[in-house]
Amino acid sequence: MPRKTFRRLHHPEDPYPVLFGRGLLEQAGALAKGLWGGRRIAVVTHRKLAQLYGKTLCARLKAAGADTRLFHIPEGEGSKNLETVRHLYGRLVQYHFGREDGLIALGGGVVGDTAGFVAATYLRGIGLIQIPTSLLAQIDSAIGAKVGVNLPQGKNLIGAFHRPAAVWIDPNVLTTLPPRELRSGLFEMLKYGFIRSPALFRQMERSPDVFRPKTPVLEKAIALAVRAKLAVVREDERETGSRRILNFGHTIGHGLEAAGAYHNLSHGEAVGWGMIAAVWLARRNELIGTKLAERMEKAVRSVAPLPSLERLGTRPIMRAIDRDKKIGTKGFRFVLPAAVGRVTVVEGFPREEILWAVKSLISASTDT
Ligand SMILES: NC(=O)c1ccc[n+]([C@@H]2O[C@H](COP(=O)([O-])OP(=O)(O)OC[C@H]3O[C@@H](n4cnc5c(N)ncnc54)[C@H](O)[C@@H]3O)[C@@H](O)[C@H]2O)c1
Repeated sequence: MPRKTFRRLHHPEDPYPVLFGRGLLEQAGALAKGLWGGRRIAVVTHRKLAQLYGKTLCARLKAAGADTRLFHIPEGEGSKNLETVRHLYGRLVQYHFGREDGLIALGGGVVGDTAGFVAATYLRGIGLIQIPTSLLAQIDSAIGAKVGVNLPQGKNLIGAFHRPAAVWIDPNVLTTLPPRELRSGLFEMLKYGFIRSPALFRQMERSPDVFRPKTPVLEKAIALAVRAKLAVVREDERETGSRRILNFGHTIGHGLEAAGAYHNLSHGEAVGWGMIAAVWLARRNELIGTKLAERMEKAVRSVAPLPSLERLGTRPIMRAIDRDKKIGTKGFRFVLPAAVGRVTVVEGFPREEILWAVKSLISASTDT
């Protein structure tokens, strides 16, 4: 058995282990055996990721004695839907998977959310291990037990809370991640610096090395971001209160993304603009001073250049933001930065303020 080379990122109070280390995938067989004994395992992934990592993972699982099946789902947000879920249920039934068997989600947030939802609902719930392969999934979507799929009417409208049995994070896999996906994850990573981790914020603003895979500084930043997410979820797993701070940068970010029909901007870029808007609004409402606002904006811009919003138009963005407003809530709930590593949630935030920020973003983005 290979020597253990992983660290534990979870806190003793966390309900599942989060292990982190280079080459962790190589140890998956032994780890799964320790966790699940002789259970049968369904590995769900994309075809491309199966070639890169899935086949080796299955070989390790089989070598450790697990009867293993590999199932593919198509790439992209478009496959995060009930049709894919139904297809996976069919495969599990076909191979007689029972309640005692388990599922491994090997991929980015699309695989994690979709396969996770299948694990949450097949036979009223089977075991799930998350092996996130995108930066966003490693620091965000694989942690926190939220799983789900989209409806034609909107994103993430169907879902469940389903705690994984474990999350295994191997930063080696990031070397094959397309650069745009890496950048997307970096914007989300900076979000954790803003909302919870001054150390992460400082590291990201000071060290450009953090933006390249294979660097120890990126590893350190991943560990800080994971710990920040675990801490937020620990306090409010079911999102009835403080977990809402995770929406930092997302109210306007989602509006930009939807108005661009999900083509013009990546999710990370939209969140990047959304975080800048939140910084400007915090400054305008005197929550932070000019110097800090400038420092925060600089940190966002240092992640990657942000694309122009000129072609999106204020109206479609505002329409998307209005649509996105959580059903049943009065006014807007908006997350503003209050200090490095701390945000505040404002209820009933005025729509005119958001409109001001959107207009300002559009004109600033055309100047850059
Ligand atoms: N459950 C949650 O709490 C939560 C939180 C945030 C986001 N999400 C969801 O996550 C999804 C976005 O996740 P994402 O950004 O990972 O997108 P994704 O899963 O679509 O992955 C992005 C692309 O990168 C590829 N990829 C992933 N890992 C790779 C690797 N190591 N090498 C080569 N290619 C690789 C994928 O095949 C895909 O083409 C959205 O659906 C979003 O709603 C969920």
